[in-house]
Amino acid sequence: MARLDGKVAIITGAGSGIGRAAARLFAREGAKVGVADVNAQRAEAVAAAITDTGGDAIAIAADVTKAADCERMVNETVKRFGKLDIMYNNAGISPMGLVHEMSEADWRKVIDICLTGVFLGTKYALPHLMKQGGVVLNTASIAGITGQPGLPHYCAAKHGVIGFTKVVALDYAKYKVRAAAICPGAVVTNIGESMGISVDPETTRKLGAALHPLGRACEPEDIANAALFLASDDAAMVSGVILTVDGAWTCGHTFPVPAQ
Ligand SMILES: NC(=O)c1ccc[n+]([C@@H]2O[C@H](COP(=O)([O-])OP(=O)(O)OC[C@H]3O[C@@H](n4cnc5c(N)ncnc54)[C@H](O)[C@@H]3O)[C@@H](O)[C@H]2O)c1
Repeated sequence: MARLDGKVAIITGAGSGIGRAAARLFAREGAKVGVADVNAQRAEAVAAAITDTGGDAIAIAADVTKAADCERMVNETVKRFGKLDIMYNNAGISPMGLVHEMSEADWRKVIDICLTGVFLGTKYALPHLMKQGGVVLNTASIAGITGQPGLPHYCAAKHGVIGFTKVVALDYAKYKVRAAAICPGAVVTNIGESMGISVDPETTRKLGAALHPLGRACEPEDIANAALFLASDDAAMVSGVILTVDGAWTCGHTFPVPAQ
């Protein structure tokens, strides 16, 4: 039996990177997937790839900063698949900037997508999850547990996601709803587009290899595998957890040990 047989999931930001890898994996493991992204073409391509290979998915064009979009995203999924078990709030951007130069609009944009988007997805999913129990999964970041230079709004949002996740875990435990946040390290995705830096995967791979004590960057599938565990019944007693998938990056600073 596949690990998500009979489950219905929504994944935001599923048109690319981590969300796309999770949508493919969840579908392979038996879930019916609402593939949501602000970029409709990307969402459609991912949903089509899943259905072409025998899975079950629908594409949903949705901007997570808009309450009406999030409500429709949940309603369309429930109408098509009959229920909702897993809400995976994953959409995000990470532009860089310094506080004294940052416009209020730039600040609000990151908070809106990375934090308010998580709130809105959760808000509209919860009434369905509360019916039979379920899971709220949120993509935070190592920027949710450590400061990252040049990312003040992103760090603020991701720290917020972690606090939010813990409260959801507490408030909805009585409905058998679990909540968890994943904190990826450096993942080989297109997120650099929003940072105005190279999206060359080899550059990210080299950076990740240097940053992660395990010696390589994270691939989107590394994060999707962690999400699969948290979304599945294997994690039935795991809630409120903040799971780093960062090759030990945030364990501390490494330094050369002198030869004995
Ligand atoms: N790539 C990394 O190194 C890394 C590290 C830590 C955390 N993360 C987090 O992982 C998540 C996924 O990022 P990724 O690396 O896969 O990036 P990505 O750019 O490959 O994918 C992000 C997706 O989110 C979508 N999106 C952006 N704004 C949206 C909105 N308003 N509504 C709906 N969809 C929207 C984009 O269209 C894109 O398809 C983000 O929350 C990001 O902050 C990424």
